[in-house]
Amino acid sequence: MKKVIFKIVNTNAEIQECFAIRYSVFVEEQKMFEKTDRDEFDNNAIHIAAINSDDRKVISTVRCHQVGENIWYGSRLAVPKEYRTHHTRIGIKLCKLAEITVAERGAKRFLAYIQKQNVRFFERLRWQKVDTPVMHFGVKHQLMEASLLGMTKKSENSLKKKIQPVYARS
Ligand SMILES: CC(C)(COP(=O)(O)OP(=O)(O)OC[C@H]1O[C@@H](n2cnc3c(N)ncnc32)[C@H](O)[C@@H]1OP(=O)(O)O)[C@@H](O)C(=O)NCCC(=O)NCCS
Repeated sequence: MKKVIFKIVNTNAEIQECFAIRYSVFVEEQKMFEKTDRDEFDNNAIHIAAINSDDRKVISTVRCHQVGENIWYGSRLAVPKEYRTHHTRIGIKLCKLAEITVAERGAKRFLAYIQKQNVRFFERLRWQKVDTPVMHFGVKHQLMEASLLGMTKKSENSLKKKIQPVYARS
């Protein structure tokens, strides 16, 4: 794999590939859902993908959706086993692009229910715990919030530059 492209998906084919990645992680691997992890939020969500530049296939994904005025949620961050801790840091870059995406759309709060084993991963991305853990789909999750307030136009641009080699908008 020469390069990983990170972008907001804009074709139905790419969205279906995102769903397939999510199925492999949340249904087959984690068994968090019996049949499908797809839900009503998918219709209005922004789906973000990491794409293998060699064959243009989606290899990982995350989505974000708006729930109220200036409030957004991120969910379904899925990097399949074979791409985890890849040197291109796929999970981190998907999260960063999600943060940029919602910040650009005026989000004041960006929240997500995080599985316990991933809390540290998000703390390293400057997300903070909100309240105590709750059960979510039968599994303990921690509500966390991104530090979007620190994301001024300047830091947003420098973040974009940092992931420039792989940053692409549809
Ligand atoms: C959690 C997940 C998204 C991480 O993605 P990833 O692509 O492996 O992460 P990256 O390669 O970008 O990670 C980079 C760094 O984070 C660390 N890291 C990865 N997963 C971590 C975790 N769960 N907890 C703490 N640190 C983690 C890596 O070791 C690496 O550390 P380094 O900077 O010291 O080298 C991925 O493991 C995954 O999709 N898991 C299954 C689905 C899931 O749990 N989704 C999240 C639901 S809340």
